[in-house]
Formats: sequence, C-alpha cells, structure tokens
Amino acid sequence: MSSPAQRAAQLRETLRDANYRYYVLDAPTLADAEYDRLLRELQTLEEKHPELCTPDSPTQRVGAIPSAKFEKVVHRRPMLSLQNAMNDEELVDFVERVHKTLSGESVSFVCEPKLDGLAVELIYEHGRFIKGSTRGDGEVGEEITANLRTIRSVPLMLQPGAPDYLEVRGEVIFPRAAFAELNRRREEAGEPTFANPRNAAAGSLRQLDPSITASRPLAVFYYDVGETSTRWTSHWARLCALRDYGLRTNPQNQRCADLSAIKAYLAERLAGRHDLPYEIDGVVVKVDGEAHRERLGFVSRSPRWAAAYKFPAEEEETIVEEILISVGRTGVLTPTARVRPVHVGGVTITNIGLHNEDEVRRKDVRVGDHVFVRRAGDVIPELVKVILEKRPPGAEPFVLNPICPVCGAAARREAGEVAMRCTNIACPAVLQGRLRHFSGRRAMDIEGLGDKLCAQLVAAGLVKTPADIYSLSDAAFLELERLGEKSVANLRAQIDGSKKRRLSRFLNALGIPQVGEATALALSLHFGALDKMMGAAVDDFLGVRDVGPAVAQAIHDFLAEPKNREAIGRLLQAGVAPETDPRPSSRGPFAGKSVVLTGTLAKMSREDAKAAVERRGGKVVGAVSRKTDLVVVGEDAGSKLKKAQELGVATADEETFLKMLGEGETA
Ligand code: IVH
Repeated sequence: MSSPAQRAAQLRETLRDANYRYYVLDAPTLADAEYDRLLRELQTLEEKHPELCTPDSPTQRVGAIPSAKFEKVVHRRPMLSLQNAMNDEELVDFVERVHKTLSGESVSFVCEPKLDGLAVELIYEHGRFIKGSTRGDGEVGEEITANLRTIRSVPLMLQPGAPDYLEVRGEVIFPRAAFAELNRRREEAGEPTFANPRNAAAGSLRQLDPSITASRPLAVFYYDVGETSTRWTSHWARLCALRDYGLRTNPQNQRCADLSAIKAYLAERLAGRHDLPYEIDGVVVKVDGEAHRERLGFVSRSPRWAAAYKFPAEEEETIVEEILISVGRTGVLTPTARVRPVHVGGVTITNIGLHNEDEVRRKDVRVGDHVFVRRAGDVIPELVKVILEKRPPGAEPFVLNPICPVCGAAARREAGEVAMRCTNIACPAVLQGRLRHFSGRRAMDIEGLGDKLCAQLVAAGLVKTPADIYSLSDAAFLELERLGEKSVANLRAQIDGSKKRRLSRFLNALGIPQVGEATALALSLHFGALDKMMGAAVDDFLGVRDVGPAVAQAIHDFLAEPKNREAIGRLLQAGVAPETDPRPSSRGPFAGKSVVLTGTLAKMSREDAKAAVERRGGKVVGAVSRKTDLVVVGEDAGSKLKKAQELGVATADEETFLKMLGEGETA
C-alpha cells in the first residue's frame, strides 16, 4: 500500500495528465466518470490530510474566497492590438509591405482564426500558474487569477520542459451552444441576458465569486507570449512549444507560404465559420520568422508583422421603432428594441433584447435610429451598432426611468448591479411572472394556466402567491372573461394533477435564485425530500453536484427567508406533495453518454427527447465534438450531422433512437 502522500501525488499526476490529453491533445484517455472518481478520491485524501494539499492540485480550481474587487495588474510587456485588413486589397497591401521591408527574402506566415472572446495573460513560474489578468487597455489589466483557475484549459501546472518564467497570452471563449443555454436559463431565472458569447465570456471572468465562473463552460486558446525566459526562432515553433507545455493552441492554426495559401486559408475559414462550436470574426495573419518580425517593428500600438482580416459582417440594417420596457418575475426592468421587421440568416427579427440600461447607453440606441442587427451565436438577435450618420434630428438619448412601467412603483439599481428592479413586492408583473414560471412546462406543468390567464388572475386580485391557485373556486374562474365550464373543468384537473409533480419540478417552480432545472434535479437527487432541504446548512448544499459557494448561499438564504417558508408551507397545506425523482439509470444505452440532437424529430419535441435521455442517465449537449457519443438525426439536419460524420461519431435516426429509449427505460 502506498502512503497517503504517495497516493495523492499519484492522483494529481494522473488527473493532470488526463486534463492535458483531454484539453490539449483532444485525445481523452480517462472516461469522465473515472476522472470524477479519482478527483473525489483526491479531495477526500486532502480533506483528511490538509498538509498534502498543494496550490496546484486539480482540486484547487474553485474554492477561493470571493474578493471584494479586482486588483490592477501592469503588463510587463504591453498587450498590443492588431492592424485591420478590411478587404482583399488591404490584405494584398499588407503582404506586399512585408515583402518590401524584408527586401525580397522568402517570408512565411502563420494564419490563425481570430477568436471573438476576451484576451488574457497568464504568468507561470517554474511551471506553476501564479497570476492571470485581463488585457484591459493593453497596459493595465485586472487580476482574475482565481477565476482563471476554474477553467479546465488553464493548466495549474505546465508539462516538464516549460521555461522558468512564461507569460502566455490567449483568448477566453464561450462556446456557442452553451451561450444559448446560459441565456435561456438566465431569462428563465429573470436575470439579464448576455448580448453575445463574447460578453458572456467577459461577464463570466469578471465575477468576484469564482464559483460562478466555475459554473460557466469557458475555454482558452493560447496564441502569444509576453515576457519569457526562452526564445523561439519562429512563431510556429512557439505555438508548438506552448502546446507541448500543455497550453492548448487552436488546431486550425496553419503555416502559409504565400499570398495564395493565405487566401485559400481565409476562404476555408469563412466557409466553415458556422461549423465551429465558438465564434470567430476573422483570421489573423502573422509573419512567422522572429528575425523578420524584429526588422518589421511596430507602428504605434500594433506590430507591422501581423494583420487581422475581418470577415464581412452578416448584418442587416433596420430602424428602431420603439424601446419597450418589460418587467420579469424577479422585478428586473428589461429594455427591448422593437424594430422594423428584417430578415437575418433565415429568420425575421422584430424584437431585440437590449439587456440593461448600461448596454443601451453604451450603444447609444435611440428611437428612430438606423441600426445594424445580426444573430449572436447564430440564434439570438443582437443590435450591433447604431448608424450615427443616419440618426434623425431630434432623436433623444434613452433614459430608463426609475419607475416600474407596470405598477408605477419606484425602481432601483443596487450598487454594483446592472439590473434595475421594481421595489414593489406585490408588483403585478412580478406576481404574474412568478405564477407563469410556477405553471410552466419545466415546473408544475399546469396546462391552460398560460400568460393570459396568469395576467387575468393577477389583475382581478385573485392570486397573490402561487399557492392561491389551489384554493380558487370554480366560480371564481368562471367569472373571468372567456372561461367556460369545460375549460374550468380541464383547468381544475390540471391544477389537481400538479400536486403530484416531482420534487425537481417543484424546486424549479419555486424560482429560487440561481437554481434552474439542472440544479433543481441535482438538489432533489441529493436530498430526496423537501423537509431535508428546509433545515440544511450552507455546507450541506455545497455537497450537491455542481453547486458552488455562491449558489449554496443563494439556496440557503431563499429557504431561510420567513416569507418563502410561509409560501412553501401554504403550498404543502394546499395538498401539494412533491414526489421523489427516480434515479437516472446507470445502465442502458444512454447511461453516462453525451448526446447531441439535431434536426426535427417527428414523434417528440426536442425538450421531451432531452428529458428522455436525461432520465436514462445521459446528457444532452449542444455541439458535436470528439467526446460526443451519439448524434440523433432528425429531419433537415445540417452542419452537426456533417461534423459527426467528419469526426466519426455514431449517429441514429429517429426510429433507432426510439428503440434505444425503449431499451434504456428507467427501472
Ligand atoms: S495575436 C500583437 N492572435 O485580437 C498581436 N490576437 O487586436 C497580439 N485575437 O486583443 C494578438 N484571436 O483579443 C492574436 N489568434 C489570435 C487572436 C487574437 C483573437 C484578439 C485578441 C487581441 C486582439 C488584437
């Protein structure tokens, strides 16, 4: 038997190696479940023997105490920007200028995707991750070490052979599918959504509580260095070295010998940009040779040896007709631009979320403005920018009145928050939003209790909290406009039926801050019954899968709040009796598998298919990668099917999928 110290060292090494193979080489050797098991073993060991815990242990990614603010970091070498080549002509100019300066020598280039994320710098000393910061203005950034530590493609320890001192630079990106999912969850939770994956990456990194960063699927590609104790003769050699140290580089980087190779690279990246699981907004062309770079030098803040070729924007122009303010179930006032209908990428856009007051100010959107719109992450409409030259005279700057447009009460913005909230706890918009969330498909699933009826019930003063719907008489429903006896009878059956929803649905229905469907299920499986949760301490919540300090605190505080306890008590009194969730199956064709759904299924909705896979112990993810186990292919499947075929991932048509579901039925 090895000593605890030996075992801990062995586990750390295995986990670190697994991370490297998974994130850098994209060739995993350990199954996810095995990784989790080893990580837990290490955690337990370190808990028992705290002296064995090292700062670079894979267990130390989260857990730092939230800081009150970000410290400033001065970059030892400024983080420069890139000169832009706006079109083919300017690209030709760039290449010609390079050749002219280097007077006819043979020059080679490296082309890289231009990632649309957030630039960061990480410092490694003796292979150990010491400090990380944002680019900031290029001279001074913000220290975000604790947050960067939570990203699995940030190695805490480099591979042997790394230089003693290394400042490495790269881009933190937010995968597209996860972006759509994050916004969906934020919308559901009544929180402000992100405009695009780039903002989501930035917002996730600038969290004072690292456990929030940890909950976001961020990733990094490394593409440059600052100060180092090593030198390379070419950029390509540098990229290869970074990869050897364990720092993930983009597999699409390529060496190009001349202009025609560069052009071919551009065309290929442009054609394939939507197939990537993350956003790129162009290509960066860099001179490869270090000696060449030195001779080319700099112009102001940009090197003469590199240029960013931006892809033409997939944008359309339209006009802002009105800026509307809606109020969600958490009381947040959200501005939305109603625009003249416009087609972008196959859909008609009429409304564009403007997220919050700061965002409207930053973009300076005014009623009457001509604007460019696009679809962020291929799905969500985004207002890119105002065309100032076309601004009509007299257009007034937007002001978000600190007054709730629904109830007229004061609205307030807490220090440090971007959201302005209605202060009236009885605001009809908030009650209506809460009731609607409560009755939603992913919550208590009360068919017939939709937007309209929720609005009517609140307006008539019949419902003050969700529990009230269980005590309403048929007569009360009948008095509402447009409700006949038959609909009331149906509604009654639905309301009664909802008393027996699963605990996970019930928890989701409560609208606990930071708790969406997935966390609700994790809580339900962990505690098994509501009463066990009601008395739990913050630490007890920390033991739940994927729950970090911030979320644990939020759940605890919600359940400790007397008003919420009373509301829950009233629901139980009304006969609501949540049922235990069945354990996801650990056998069958979906257990532990990662599944992607693409195209339209004829026999079931996407949501039902997802739920069916999850009940059988599988996970449904948005994008196809080497780690995907199965792609379910419906009607009109597009790029995901192509990707699956390219990567050799197994596919199943709907019929096969349904058969597999039959085999994997929960016990
Ligand atoms: S190299 C001096 N490579 O573009 C060159 N930058 O305008 C230093 N970016 O702040 C940067 N992808 O955020 C480089 N493959 C890539 C990049 C890239 C995206 C961003 C980066 C930087 C900005 C420069």
